[in-house]
Amino acid sequence: MIKPAELDLLVVGSGVAGLSAAVRAADGHGLRVGVLTKGALEQATTRWAQGGVAAVLGGDPDSTDLHLADTLAAGDGLCDVDAVRVLVEEGPGRVQDLIALGAAFDRDEQGRFELAREGGHSLARVVHAGGSATGAEIERALVAAVRRAAVVIHEHAFALDLLMEDGVCVGVRAATDDGVINEVRARHVLLASGGAGQLFAVTTNPLESTGDGIAMALRAGAAVADIEFVQFHPTALHSPRMPQPLLSEALRGHGALLRDTTGERFVDELLPRDQVSRAMTRRMLELDVDHCWLDATGLAEFPQRFPNIAVALAEAGLDPSIDWLPIAPAAHYLCGGIVTDLDGASTIPGLWAAGEAACSGVHGANRLASNSLLEGMVFGARVVEDVERGTETASPTGAMRSATGTEQTGIIGGCPVEGWARPAELTFDTDESTLSDIAAARDALQRAMTIGAGVLRNEASLAATAEVVQRAGSVAAAGTGPAAWELANLVAVGSALLAAASARTESRGAHTRDDHPGTDPDFVCRLVLR
Ligand code: SIN
Repeated sequence: MIKPAELDLLVVGSGVAGLSAAVRAADGHGLRVGVLTKGALEQATTRWAQGGVAAVLGGDPDSTDLHLADTLAAGDGLCDVDAVRVLVEEGPGRVQDLIALGAAFDRDEQGRFELAREGGHSLARVVHAGGSATGAEIERALVAAVRRAAVVIHEHAFALDLLMEDGVCVGVRAATDDGVINEVRARHVLLASGGAGQLFAVTTNPLESTGDGIAMALRAGAAVADIEFVQFHPTALHSPRMPQPLLSEALRGHGALLRDTTGERFVDELLPRDQVSRAMTRRMLELDVDHCWLDATGLAEFPQRFPNIAVALAEAGLDPSIDWLPIAPAAHYLCGGIVTDLDGASTIPGLWAAGEAACSGVHGANRLASNSLLEGMVFGARVVEDVERGTETASPTGAMRSATGTEQTGIIGGCPVEGWARPAELTFDTDESTLSDIAAARDALQRAMTIGAGVLRNEASLAATAEVVQRAGSVAAAGTGPAAWELANLVAVGSALLAAASARTESRGAHTRDDHPGTDPDFVCRLVLR
């Protein structure tokens, strides 16, 4: 049972962005903080992050200018330079904050950080924990701190919609898993509810990644942008397991090779991951196969350096010292989301966003490897500073410039976000046949998105996908309960993605239109959905 509470800050979501904000707000500023999440507190996508955190902690020859340049190059013309400057300059301090909270990063015998190299980085600058279990360590440290600091923690509570009064966000309406619906009121709401990898049949994201925060923001009228840029990770283990086990980019940083099914190398392993995923997909289509190989047989001390990956491989019956590993690209990260300024404020007063749910402008058309945990901690912290300053509305900074008309923008209006039962009508579906209709519609949506709006897209494939998504919307609208709400949210975010992907008639970053293969200078702008 959720008890109504007057909070200074309500955080929706329990990954790195939300929990770093919650700890800072409660410990550093004495704010009354609540956290609301649909699973257990520790059950966030952050926990699955492998590679690490890209931050300039090693000194010469690295520099924040180099990190900035690599981020801008990966973002393919669409990063907001001010936002990236904030990211690379404040990032090292936020990593130190995590260490102060008890997070332990891997160090060498002299106590220096062990730095890994990943695709798109000009040198090794990725700090990691437990080899490639970085997210799990960060989540562990943050969960312990939040359990100590937060006033209320609502676990297993599904946020249904934003509570709006006179155009201001004043909380959320949420359902507990026994079906009771309550209002949780707060002076400020931070959506840090992650991405929407479950839009796709093949993804590294957990089952919970259904775009709930972005869908709520869309329904409330917040601006959303860059949502056509879905990053596909090149090296997900090709296996029936869902989510797909990730074989960290750090493996390629350590020398693992990509081979096609004839054994030939065909792409530079250290290119940014949009380029690698595209090259793999094209090669797989040419050879009419469903996977490539990752050859890590030359890597020394694999089990010591990558213990969690070694376990996942052993479970799949693979030994990386002798077996080539079957891999295929999998949906991994949503580069866009709810448009924010440099302090995480959205276009709706009272509403902030951070992490994968947000479009802060740092990723542009394609996120640089290991910049996502960093973004969560940097911008989550900035939200708290903004709230503490008493800011009421967003400033025209960062990605927000595209929603306030201060930079060139394409506006896509009328994005369909239907298929949603109003909370007053809610009762839970327990009927087996309705639940199986919902599961079938989710499955059809995921398959259609993978085929028609995946690594390669075109006008016809996007239109065909939109029909399937629309049908899923009707199924969601006919049902209630968590399965129907998640499906409705996938439909809302999927519809937004398809609208933006159809409107962007060019190829840029993670968005590849095989009917428009080149970049178009008219599209050096964000497409904003309202
Ligand atoms: C990886 O370890 O390859 C994933 C890291 C990331 O998503 O940046």
